[in-house]
Amino acid sequence: MKILIATQKPFAPEAVNGIKAIADEAGYQTEVLEKYPDEAALCAAVKDADALIVRSDKVTATVLDAAPKLKIVVRAGAGYDNVDLSAATSHSVVVMNTPGQNSNAVAELVMGLLVYTVRGFFNGKTGTELRGKKLGLLAFGNVGRNVARIAKGFDMDVHAYDAYCPADAIEKSGVKAAPSADSLFENCDIVSLHIPATPETKGSIGYDKVMKLPKNGILLNTARAEVIDEDGLIKAMTERPDIRYIADIAPAKAAEFAEKFPGRYFATPKKMGAQTKEANINAGLAAARQIVGYLKDGITKFQVNK
Ligand code: 3PG
Repeated sequence: MKILIATQKPFAPEAVNGIKAIADEAGYQTEVLEKYPDEAALCAAVKDADALIVRSDKVTATVLDAAPKLKIVVRAGAGYDNVDLSAATSHSVVVMNTPGQNSNAVAELVMGLLVYTVRGFFNGKTGTELRGKKLGLLAFGNVGRNVARIAKGFDMDVHAYDAYCPADAIEKSGVKAAPSADSLFENCDIVSLHIPATPETKGSIGYDKVMKLPKNGILLNTARAEVIDEDGLIKAMTERPDIRYIADIAPAKAAEFAEKFPGRYFATPKKMGAQTKEANINAGLAAARQIVGYLKDGITKFQVNK
């Protein structure tokens, strides 16, 4: 059996070594393909792989067609919008993610970006503090919960709305449950997005929602660029010169945001949320263990294309 680790954005070496150790113990081979230039390179590498570990790498029908022996793909991370699930299912390939393994890393980045933003991108001028501000979490999964935990240490007033998590479960975590996504935008100084990119969420954050933000509102996106309706956000930020947009992954119209909204827009040059040694180790090793668990014992606990 051969596991291919295909990561355009490489894991920390410790994570790669940990994956190799788990594979060795199971009697499996490993191959590492990092910083590869294009889909063709992935197709060439995957041709004799039984299992594939990826990050945000795109696993398309073309990649699956090029992998006749492939049995399982594990997205070492939370969001699996980069894997063509229906193509995987029709190729009889199991797809899994590793939920929760990198969520602390993303949550720490959220707080770092917030401090950076309210201190004017460290421009030397007087900023504001996070203490006492209302933070609205749109979705209360693993990342949202970790942000809530850390934000409480900043004495922030934390609110959350999650279409799939009941209000009482949110309240049990010591967070105020909002009745709707709109109410978060109406009531919170900062709205932080933690929704996956799905057909329902893509383009769902746009003009109407952003215009509801109170004065000096901040929209923070460490989820996915695709959940934003960029034209709607640009229109809102043009009409409301007090609103700021901060993202961990540049929008498609990054140049327009940068030109039109200096001092009110920032995006990381590369998606940084899960880019810590610890998150790489947690997610990478979980992926390797899940592959061994599936190939040896048929365990499908984290399968997402059931
Ligand atoms: C995730 O969905 O787990 C994060 O967005 C991390 O993505 P990355 O592995 O490409 O950094």
